[in-house]
Amino acid sequence: MPSTETKFKILLAASEVMGYAKTGGLADVAASLPHALAERGHDCTILLPLYRCARTGAIPVAPTEHTLSIPLGGRRLAGRLWRSTLPESRVPVYLVEQNELFDRDERRFGHGLYQFSATAGEKRDYRDNCLRFAFFCRAVLESMRVLDLWPEIVHLNDWQTGLIPVYLREMYRHHSDARLREHYRRIRTLLTIHNIAYQGLFPPGEFAGLGLDWRLFNYHQLEFHNHLNCLKAGIVFSDLLNTVSPTYAREIQTPYFGWGMQDCLRERGGRLFGIVNGVDYSQWDPATDVHLPANYSVDQVQPGKGICKAALQKRFGLAEEPRIPLLGVVARLVEQKGIPFLVAGLPTLLKDCQVVVLGEGEGRYHDQLTALQQAAPRRLGVFLGFDEPLAHRIEAGADIFLMPSEYEPSGLNQLYSMKYGTVPVVRATGGLADTVVDCTPQTLSQGEATGFRFVALTTDAFLEATHRAVALYQHQPTAWMQLLLTGMRQDWSWQRSAAEYEKLYGRLRDYDA
Ligand code: ADP
Ligand code: GLC
Repeated sequence: MPSTETKFKILLAASEVMGYAKTGGLADVAASLPHALAERGHDCTILLPLYRCARTGAIPVAPTEHTLSIPLGGRRLAGRLWRSTLPESRVPVYLVEQNELFDRDERRFGHGLYQFSATAGEKRDYRDNCLRFAFFCRAVLESMRVLDLWPEIVHLNDWQTGLIPVYLREMYRHHSDARLREHYRRIRTLLTIHNIAYQGLFPPGEFAGLGLDWRLFNYHQLEFHNHLNCLKAGIVFSDLLNTVSPTYAREIQTPYFGWGMQDCLRERGGRLFGIVNGVDYSQWDPATDVHLPANYSVDQVQPGKGICKAALQKRFGLAEEPRIPLLGVVARLVEQKGIPFLVAGLPTLLKDCQVVVLGEGEGRYHDQLTALQQAAPRRLGVFLGFDEPLAHRIEAGADIFLMPSEYEPSGLNQLYSMKYGTVPVVRATGGLADTVVDCTPQTLSQGEATGFRFVALTTDAFLEATHRAVALYQHQPTAWMQLLLTGMRQDWSWQRSAAEYEKLYGRLRDYDA
């Protein structure tokens, strides 16, 4: 338990939080980190928008009497705070209600959190995303006043929260009320970048509605190629920055990975850190996982894992052969995840393996995967959609997990895979490079190998690494078992990552406003 000096009061703002709303790993992080911080004695509160899925989801949420009224986009927008508690914790969660902006997600109509499916099936961003998340940013700052909740650290996540430090510095620290001004002046900000490719870019007309001074619309601050860039706003205005692995923190300072942000990141290089995400083992542990047909652990892998494999084969209508290598994929179906390599490599892989894919994303990948599945229904299983229990069953039932990502800030699935004794094949980038040790005769004999890595961004390199994995699985069962057990013994718990975040929070205390 930390002493009072090392105890922090944190407000974490995110556009998705596991259990309330999720499209990817950000949601896992935004729930697990506060949970781990609370266990370490810190006082952490979470804020997110009240989407329809959060209002109607499994976790109870209830309206409070705290209302908001925020001038934005040339009018006054009303809002209300709702209250909840993060499951299995005492972490308070506040959800920002503004129905015009947030009450629209409905899966069956193709309406997501940030995007909707247009008539041709392709995904389009909502036209008012700038207003939606600018409102959320203002709401976060207003909530402190209406709740009389004064964190010393506001922990921001991705572009949706990028305007918070701008409003803080430009407006709230000059508040007309001296008491409030003092409170706002004490707040420090940390921005975690989960994915630099998503920047929140909007035409300059949108800037006009934000209530910010036009002098900020310049290349060194909020402007990027004559657009408002919300992530850049966060990068320039936050006190400290981190991303979700040390390798990605280095990569994004280069043109290939930086998506135009490399220069402003290099300028702030001394304040940019890398912390790999952790795993919430209360949700992701094959010994206790409620979604599995059988449980297993590092002490007793079989018959549990075999039962999971057979059930997975059955679920997808694949031939129920226990020894055929079964390869799994769970991913957003977007270019970042290396889906083009997967699609190009599948005809070769399906010659002697089975593959199951769970994901949703771009229409072209949906079409390509569906066509491949129809051509090889006993070898390839595809489920296009979002299905949390199925994600767990694939992690458990597969022998090998594929992540040929073009880039991967941290990645959670390779960590889940290792825990489930499912050997990951990954491209050596970002968090994948920081967490998976390539299997070579040397790393294997030293008991360090946990997976297979490849470097070149080509289908051949991906297939070469996958074939190495398949060959070991088929021909060296003892070595395979050792590899699998080494992965299962790794500790990627949130406690380790939370301890790293504590160090960053500690640094923030030393910064002047
Ligand atoms: P990213 O955040 O880039 O999508 P991560 O590996 O960090 O990648 O996290 C992805 C998370 O989302 C994991 O928890 C994974 O299991 C989950 N996930 C991704 N796609 C699906 C899907 N179609 N159904 C269920 N869970 C999914
Ligand atoms: C992003 C990244 C992923 C990371 C996740 C959570 O979506 O693509 O690599 O694990 O954020 O930090």
